[in-house]
Amino acid sequence: MDQLLSKIAINDGHGENSAFFDGWKAYDSDPYHPTQNPDGVIQMGLAENQLSFDFVEEWVRNNPKASICTEQGANDFRDIAIFQDYHGFPEFRNAVARFMEKVRGNRVRFDPDRIVMSGGATGAQETLAFCLADPGEALLVPTPYYPANDRDLTWRTGIKLLPVICESSNNFKITSSALESAYNKAQESNIKVKGLLLNNPSNPLGTVLDKQTLTESLNFTNNKNIHLICDEIYSATVFSKPDFISIAEIIEENPNCNRELIHIVYSLSKDLGFPGFRVGIIYSYNDSVTNCARKMSSFGLVSTQTQHLIASMLSDEVFLDRFIVESSKRLGNRHSVLVKELARVGIESLKSNAGLYCWMDLRRLLKEFTFEAEMELWRVIVNEVKLNVSPGSSFHCSEPGWFRVCFANMDDETLMVALKRIHKFVIQSKGINVVNEVPNSRKQYRRNNKLEINLSFRRLDGIMMEPHKMSPHSPMSSPLVRART
Ligand SMILES: Cc1ncc(COP(=O)(O)O)c(C=O)c1O
Repeated sequence: MDQLLSKIAINDGHGENSAFFDGWKAYDSDPYHPTQNPDGVIQMGLAENQLSFDFVEEWVRNNPKASICTEQGANDFRDIAIFQDYHGFPEFRNAVARFMEKVRGNRVRFDPDRIVMSGGATGAQETLAFCLADPGEALLVPTPYYPANDRDLTWRTGIKLLPVICESSNNFKITSSALESAYNKAQESNIKVKGLLLNNPSNPLGTVLDKQTLTESLNFTNNKNIHLICDEIYSATVFSKPDFISIAEIIEENPNCNRELIHIVYSLSKDLGFPGFRVGIIYSYNDSVTNCARKMSSFGLVSTQTQHLIASMLSDEVFLDRFIVESSKRLGNRHSVLVKELARVGIESLKSNAGLYCWMDLRRLLKEFTFEAEMELWRVIVNEVKLNVSPGSSFHCSEPGWFRVCFANMDDETLMVALKRIHKFVIQSKGINVVNEVPNSRKQYRRNNKLEINLSFRRLDGIMMEPHKMSPHSPMSSPLVRART
């Protein structure tokens, strides 16, 4: 029978069938509310920055002319509504370029004429994939990486993402040998590698790339004559040392490198906390890519109403200076509360200094060192502890037992409820025998994995096997989630 829909329409390229999105569904079907649903699921799977909205709201109130739907701004309504040039308002491009410079400590300059708009970083990634690679060709991506990269870069473009395996034994550092090995593996499989995608600071690790790693990545890609894409969407979320270093600074220090191979992805979704505005930016040092991406941007322009507001907000230096400092301070405080409270019950997390999340090490709570055991633990955390955290496997982590916990999308009270639930869960689990030695390398993990580890994990097993013990609101009873358990 003829297929009625396209291959893209019916394939699984969206990635919706993953634990990452299952956790969101579990939250959606039973969302926590302090009074109306105090036993509901707390959303800790959403990398949103909601901690500094008071500053933004104050600015909006004090600048009514920046909004065209106010008495003070209505005179501009008509001009804004009819503007449709895909270059965007010059004031918008200028303001975004200056903001990107400010976030990078004014150590580099960005040319406003190279600022190309897209529908968030999501659109920027896809546009770059369209510009740089043909279907079947590949980009290398260090693991663990942001789950939706699979959707954003590959679903509609037909390109592939190939993992560069990074390991906990060196804090998931990207090494030259890991890069070479991923590249060689692709060649052995006859897959043409067109570039390397870095995310700095990293989602999910919350760490920044150091100068050496950035320089090695630049050399690696330059030597192979492939592209280097740097997703710097979390650049202003750094809350303690070491400072963020942009690839833009590294290329200044390496004047002989081939700039035509360098492209930056940016957005206001994380640094300012405006994912709903869909302000994404492609900044390429390659004229052809800039021109092509600009033509493609017709498919995902930032609305003129948003451009107008953002141009005005980002031109206010006093506001920005205050926001950047205060936002990173608040993120740092949140991070430190979370990490300290986790440590109090013996849960370690990767040392980090950026992002809206931490990378929690629950390897000791695994029944065995397998991804099945990770999923089992994850189901208990989502369905019984009622916290939507994201399992490492959804980030393509090479070792089971790591979980991403977001901390900036909720108020202080909700965080406290979440921490109490974690404490209770860990304390209850402590009476039992769980894995108490974690492997410190992937090789060792493989070795352990071969052994039959006989563990008594009574509480978790008990819960999994006794559905009547689940809360009546448990999303396990939701057909969506049940189908995959
Ligand atoms: C690393 C990374 N890149 C891109 C995106 C997509 O961002 P946007 O909302 O701007 O499309 C996200 C969102 O979580 C992200 O974490």
